[in-house]
Amino acid sequence: MKILAIESSCDETAAAVVENGTKIISNVVASSKDIQEKWGGIVPEVAAREQVKSIIPVIIEALRPFTKSTDLAYKPIIEKNIDAIAVTIGPGLIGSLLIGVEAARTLAWTCNKPVIPVNHVLAHMYANFVFDIEIIFPAISLVVSGGHTELYLMTSYKDLKWLGGTIDDAAGECFDKTARLLGFGGRGGLAIQEAASLANGEWRMVNRNNKNNPSAINHKPYAITLPRPLLHDKTLNFSFSGLKTAVQREWNKLNTNHSTIQPFDHDLVNIFAYEIQESITDVLVKKTMRAAQMHNAKSIMISGGVAANTLLREKFHSQLTTYNLQLIAPPVQLCTDNAVSIASYAYFYGEKVSWEKFVAQPNLTVEL
Ligand code: KG4
Ligand code: ZN
Repeated sequence: MKILAIESSCDETAAAVVENGTKIISNVVASSKDIQEKWGGIVPEVAAREQVKSIIPVIIEALRPFTKSTDLAYKPIIEKNIDAIAVTIGPGLIGSLLIGVEAARTLAWTCNKPVIPVNHVLAHMYANFVFDIEIIFPAISLVVSGGHTELYLMTSYKDLKWLGGTIDDAAGECFDKTARLLGFGGRGGLAIQEAASLANGEWRMVNRNNKNNPSAINHKPYAITLPRPLLHDKTLNFSFSGLKTAVQREWNKLNTNHSTIQPFDHDLVNIFAYEIQESITDVLVKKTMRAAQMHNAKSIMISGGVAANTLLREKFHSQLTTYNLQLIAPPVQLCTDNAVSIASYAYFYGEKVSWEKFVAQPNLTVEL
């Protein structure tokens, strides 16, 4: 069964064709991140406008493997090769979602194909099913993205139970907001990861008051310790907004108490990035391991943009032998938003409906 999948929940426009939920025939992603950067963050109207521009070229590109012709007529291609159209209906930005949903409805109607509505957050975890890995159930699935931090118990390909989630900011949101504070613009978690890798242990401050030698080192070592929010709390919930505030507080303290600190002192930025990454990953790993113990899990599954984080993967790996678990994680390019995971969800979990039977749902629940 070949599914054409469409994803447009935020600032990525994506389309893919996947066979039987596992064989990727095409995978196309366009992003408006660079354009959004000018505005200092995602502006829903800008994202929606970019979705309008990208949706048809992206879908056409995803159908490219089915024809040699440069003049790609999508209707006969879909009629001949595609069995169903999957589309993200929520959660997400209404203006962005509507573009993908209307495109899917139109294609389904004109080509007489069923549609499979998809929950974007649940779809993230189905990126793990694309590679036909044998998953030993029960599994604890951590979906950790820019908008969500959720834990699920998965007892089969189709059986999911929500166990807990963030009560305020998502982990990715915390990475994004603190990255902006440290001067990385919209580069988010990846920028924090790169800066953290440069923190060299020799933590030090540059004394810029020494006019004769501006790069002279003031040998006062500096380290920050950030909180690990809800680490010892018995629930499987997360909270990251206090961590963001703690970073802000520490940062302001330095910038007011020590006039020597420049707004973008690389050493200092790296130290902050290091501790932010340590704190977020400590909490994610500890809570996920707690869920695994509570439910006698055999596997840990991670997905969503933050699952691309190298330290997070390493910390999970270091727990595997102690707890006798397998770790399942998608390749980095399938952690962030894409349409391959939408197609895989549709194949393993979704249900076909007629084109007029669904609408975009920006607040679609993720608590099953
Ligand atoms: O899944 P995704 O593309 O979009 C949402 O559904 O939200 O996730 C985007 C999030 C952003 O917060 C971004 O900063 C984060 O994933 N991210 C990372 C890394 N790469 C992307 N966070 C930590 N480390 C990374 N390497
Ligand atoms: Zn996402």
